[in-house]
Amino acid sequence: MEEKEDFRNQIVKPSSLRTLKAKGQKITCLTAYDYRTAQILDKAGIDIVLVGDSLANVFLGYDSTTQVGMTEMTYHTKAVAKGIKRALLVTDMPFLSYNLSIEKTISNAAELIKAGAKAVKIEGGNENIIKAIESLHNVGIPVIGHLGYTPQSEGVLQSRLQGKTENERQKIFEQSKKVEEAGAIALVLEMLPKDLAKEISHSLKIPTIGIGAGPDCDGQILVTDDLIGKSELKFKFVKRYAEIGQVIEESVTNYVSDVQKGNFPDNTHSFSLT
Ligand code: KIV
Repeated sequence: MEEKEDFRNQIVKPSSLRTLKAKGQKITCLTAYDYRTAQILDKAGIDIVLVGDSLANVFLGYDSTTQVGMTEMTYHTKAVAKGIKRALLVTDMPFLSYNLSIEKTISNAAELIKAGAKAVKIEGGNENIIKAIESLHNVGIPVIGHLGYTPQSEGVLQSRLQGKTENERQKIFEQSKKVEEAGAIALVLEMLPKDLAKEISHSLKIPTIGIGAGPDCDGQILVTDDLIGKSELKFKFVKRYAEIGQVIEESVTNYVSDVQKGNFPDNTHSFSLT
């Protein structure tokens, strides 16, 4: 059997994603919003770190991803960029930052690239979005597409699981083709039946990155806080690898008790000149 080349030590570039797919190597992605988390993910061998606009709900406690803008995405991209040596840093273009005019789309994407992102992610597949992907590709800004459940359009969607009718399936399939033709380097598929995600993954040359879209995507992405058990919500498509929320709560409860009882600091945590 032919031995697979190991990409774990190579810097991940936008062009690496297609190569990974062609070689049958699954692409791993997680979110980060701060320097230290990015550093840990990078050290652990993650291929893509996404500064997702999930920042809004997960990190800032807002109700919707539509509540963050360029200021927040740029600020967090700068922090995350400091923590990354190997992974590809991708930043979500926030709500209405890529839908109003091509000039504004390009200047917003350029701001994120200047902050340290190596590619941007854009939700949707209508005509305007395809034009935006094409325009960014033409000026040399790599783009990752995002179809299926697109949180920025939550207000106009009927449910989280997409692709439930034949019409919807057909539409998503056709849009995936257009996203690829427009020059995207990869495509996130969120909340789709696994057979549809498989069909799309097999028909595209660019890799698909799934979240709630089954095992046949070319890569997987999760929100890190969900994976480590720090977020409040538990979703069916998330596998929890730790319960960090509980660890933090227990640690703080013990600290509070120790300080209140005078058990901390003790001699081992105090300085003395004698
Ligand atoms: O904002 C985000 O974190 C995302 C991923 C969950 C795909 O878009």
